[in-house]
Amino acid sequence: MCGIVGYVGRANKAQEVILSGLERLEYRGYDSSGIAVLTNSKLECHKFKGKLSVLKDFLSNNTLNGNVGIGHTRWATHGNPTNENAHPHINEKNNIAIVHNGIIENYLELKQMLIENGYVFKSETDSEVIVYLFDMYYDENLLNTAFKVRELIRGTYAIVIIHNDQKEEFIAMRNEAPLVIGYGEKENFVASDITAILEYTKDISFLDNGEIAVVKKDSVVVYDKNKNMVEKEHTTINWSLEQATKCGYKHFMLKEIHEQPSDIRDTLNSRIDKSGLIKLDDIKLTESDIKKFNKIYIVACGTAFNAGCVGKYIIEKLSKIHVTCEIASEFRYQDPFVDENTLTIIVSQSGETADTLSALRLAKRKGSRILSITNVVDSSIARESDDVFYTWAGPEIAVASTKAYTTQLTAFYMIALNLGLYNKTLSINDYKQYIKLLMQTADVLQNMLENTDEEKQIANEIKDSTSIFYLGRLVDGQTAKEMALKLKEISYIFAESFVAGELKHGPIALIEKGTPVIALSTQKNMVEKMISNIQEVKARGAYVIGIGNEHDKALQDICQKFIKIPNIDDLFMPLVSVLPGQLIAYYVSDLKGYDVDKPRNLAKSVTVE
Ligand code: G6P
Repeated sequence: MCGIVGYVGRANKAQEVILSGLERLEYRGYDSSGIAVLTNSKLECHKFKGKLSVLKDFLSNNTLNGNVGIGHTRWATHGNPTNENAHPHINEKNNIAIVHNGIIENYLELKQMLIENGYVFKSETDSEVIVYLFDMYYDENLLNTAFKVRELIRGTYAIVIIHNDQKEEFIAMRNEAPLVIGYGEKENFVASDITAILEYTKDISFLDNGEIAVVKKDSVVVYDKNKNMVEKEHTTINWSLEQATKCGYKHFMLKEIHEQPSDIRDTLNSRIDKSGLIKLDDIKLTESDIKKFNKIYIVACGTAFNAGCVGKYIIEKLSKIHVTCEIASEFRYQDPFVDENTLTIIVSQSGETADTLSALRLAKRKGSRILSITNVVDSSIARESDDVFYTWAGPEIAVASTKAYTTQLTAFYMIALNLGLYNKTLSINDYKQYIKLLMQTADVLQNMLENTDEEKQIANEIKDSTSIFYLGRLVDGQTAKEMALKLKEISYIFAESFVAGELKHGPIALIEKGTPVIALSTQKNMVEKMISNIQEVKARGAYVIGIGNEHDKALQDICQKFIKIPNIDDLFMPLVSVLPGQLIAYYVSDLKGYDVDKPRNLAKSVTVE
């Protein structure tokens, strides 16, 4: 996601610390950067689209002399990468500046209220509401104002604020987005990521949800949700810079696996309005457009394709529109049945995959409306689409995609629910109930991440196998495909998924004594059939690791190992059932000592055919 650095301390040191911190955060990916410093005369703010070097070049001739400041690198979510959308955001009087990471879920309501109070918005971001709220409620005490603003905003945030009337301090506040305080000698720091300040201090503390810190050069006072002062525990960081960029996780892949619950929430929550309806802000499809579509094509590559295959099930179930899911490199050379009555959904994390982009152009030439699901704002695919659904997963660094996949599934749920509502295949009550269940699914995933011992143990048992099979039926068959892809990508073990009912027509010949078979069975109506398939492979000597609903005792009993998935609605199982597959792949690769984040022969973004 975006990066934050804040500094208060020594004379004229703010610019240097902030720029060096932002440089350390570059690895996370960003598309604009900015800085605000309280100089002797005024608050000075500069921000630019593009690389940090643009900001640095500007400052090399326009040094900001001050001892308090904030900086930001932005990864676009609400609004394209532009100078206006870059942070810091400042108020009209030019005396307050804020930087923000995360998403303000109720920004639309707040924006409306602020507009009614005469505020004029310059950017398309959700973050701009924060600076105007500080302006509106400022009572000469920045802390009190922060208490007030905290009551008004909802969402995930790490926010740092400076005010030109308070030249010796900055305020930092967080909710579900990381913020770390760094303690120095006559200087203190704040950052979204330890890396940014590690060069200056190893003495840190982490802000907790709901906390607000008043940071001065020789004091840091932290207040909790109830405005009570809290003593923060200090931690001494002995991480290398490399470890720090991974927030203490051994690899980016593991970090990104753990980020999934919050990324799903980000993708989801701010698109749900007060009345509980999904508002797809960048999608302009009307009810009559939707009625016109007699079929949907989903086109993508790799993990995005696997997400699309699950998306097909979700859309068909909720909206009853026929969906075909195609691999982009095949689609582009076919003569697909696409016309003006077709909706083509293009899925791509990077938004730059060459085959996917060509497929988009072909569908467009044939008259289809193009809706893309992508993680990168203003990417080629986003720019060439009629409508865009941005997944708000933040930069994904590991080559093996995880959080992009689950946020793409979240996008499919949201799109499918709205298609179902418009198409009248879903009642408003069912629609609202499904939204509630979807929101709860992120919590289920979070709980599952709390104990991953089972996956570690299984990884240890299967790591020396030469081939591993994955089985599933219907939507589970699609999830199994993604699990097998993860394993082959990073462990180099031959792993393939099979539709369980098809085993007897060939693949079962490959089963030998001890062959690991990972059998996924989350759908109630398919459990009996899966049990029969498991018996078939067990009879040939397979070592069966089942993954299924915690309540499915019969299933559990016939598997040698079993990973329990909490009992949630079958519709949302794909969003959580993929997790054990991601973790098993991760642990196998790590146990084998491979470079998990950069597997051989693979690239994160394939921009050539
Ligand atoms: C590459 C990556 C895969 C990714 C695929 C599609 O092959 O290694 O992880 O799924 O491209 O990428 P996209 O950016 O279009 O989702």
